[in-house]
Amino acid sequence: MSPILIKDLDEDGLMKLKDMDCAPLPQERDSIYILFYRFFRQTCRVAYVQNELAGFVLAFADQADSGHIYIHYLFVAKQHRGKGIGEMLLQAIRQYGEDHAVKKISLMTSNADNVRYYAKFGFVRDEVLQQKNNPVFDYMRDVKKAVFLTLSLPSVSSSEGLFDALAAGWHSGLSEREISCAENLLLRLDVQLEHSLLDIGAGTGILPSILKKRGIFPQKYVAVDLSSNMLKELREAFPEAETRHLDFDREQKAIGLFDLVILYNSIPHFKNLDAVFANARRSVQPGGRFVIAHARTRLALSEHHRAIGYSSSHKPIPSDSELLEVSSRHGFTDACIEDDDYFYFCVEVKK
Ligand SMILES: C[S@@+](CC[C@H](N)C(=O)[O-])C[C@H]1O[C@@H](n2cnc3c(N)ncnc32)[C@H](O)[C@@H]1O
Repeated sequence: MSPILIKDLDEDGLMKLKDMDCAPLPQERDSIYILFYRFFRQTCRVAYVQNELAGFVLAFADQADSGHIYIHYLFVAKQHRGKGIGEMLLQAIRQYGEDHAVKKISLMTSNADNVRYYAKFGFVRDEVLQQKNNPVFDYMRDVKKAVFLTLSLPSVSSSEGLFDALAAGWHSGLSEREISCAENLLLRLDVQLEHSLLDIGAGTGILPSILKKRGIFPQKYVAVDLSSNMLKELREAFPEAETRHLDFDREQKAIGLFDLVILYNSIPHFKNLDAVFANARRSVQPGGRFVIAHARTRLALSEHHRAIGYSSSHKPIPSDSELLEVSSRHGFTDACIEDDDYFYFCVEVKK
């Protein structure tokens, strides 16, 4: 069987899609497809089989609630049905949802076969909308025979709540030491405009705030965090930043390739070093670096934890031997570890 390729909706996809025969479904007006391309293409995907457009999904985020994606249209050409293309397109939207703190995906259909099809993917009837009484919903149900379906996406982790609660005051609560260490770190790493940077446990964006002040916001900057509230604050301050709402303590699919992957001031919150390094290895491009830094040294951090009565089942900053072992297991080289003024660990991926 020929390979199926799922891609973002680009110019080429749009030009093919606008002429696609969608029978027995209606073909939309060109302008609808163009609107999806112009304004909602982050939530649209196209499927190709040997360069031929085989299907597409057009979806968008609720304007009042970015945690809700609505699927407007899912279509697979007749000759390509039965190959799992619809499921692959839905999975691509689901993946986007999981990466962007989306809580639910919904759609509306008036076809009983479709209800069964979506049920296999986990969609269930939305009984709240199904019972809703107002002229619009009465019309959709009674005249259009619409059935409302919804798919809930699991929340990433329960500890997300802790950081969500801290997000609003996070930036103003940063200490001088945390800021000056981050400044020093970015200087020594010699971050430049043309670099790409993946910021793990980015919080509200201490790293981009320093880089922006220096006029060297990297051409590609992606912030990863478990807390959707932290990322919301970060996006408000840095609209040019890309964000990924995900748990870096669990193995994740590749996010992209970066010159620098930095985990600043967050290492005590990660328990699964193996997953962290596997994720980092997938994200560092040849010649790039993975850096773990903390504004306190190991000793200062354990004194600080003692002073505030905090105890944890794992070492807040792993030992040198653990770091060296996990680095070499994941194919990193040239390790450098310093624990004098602040904690600094850096490894590379060979070119
Ligand atoms: C102490 S804060 C540091 C934030 C930021 N780097 C700073 O220095 O201001 C730790 C951050 O790591 C995030 N975090 C904790 N566990 C995480 C995980 N498993 N995956 C991704 N982010 C995580 C938290 O949500 C929080 O924003």
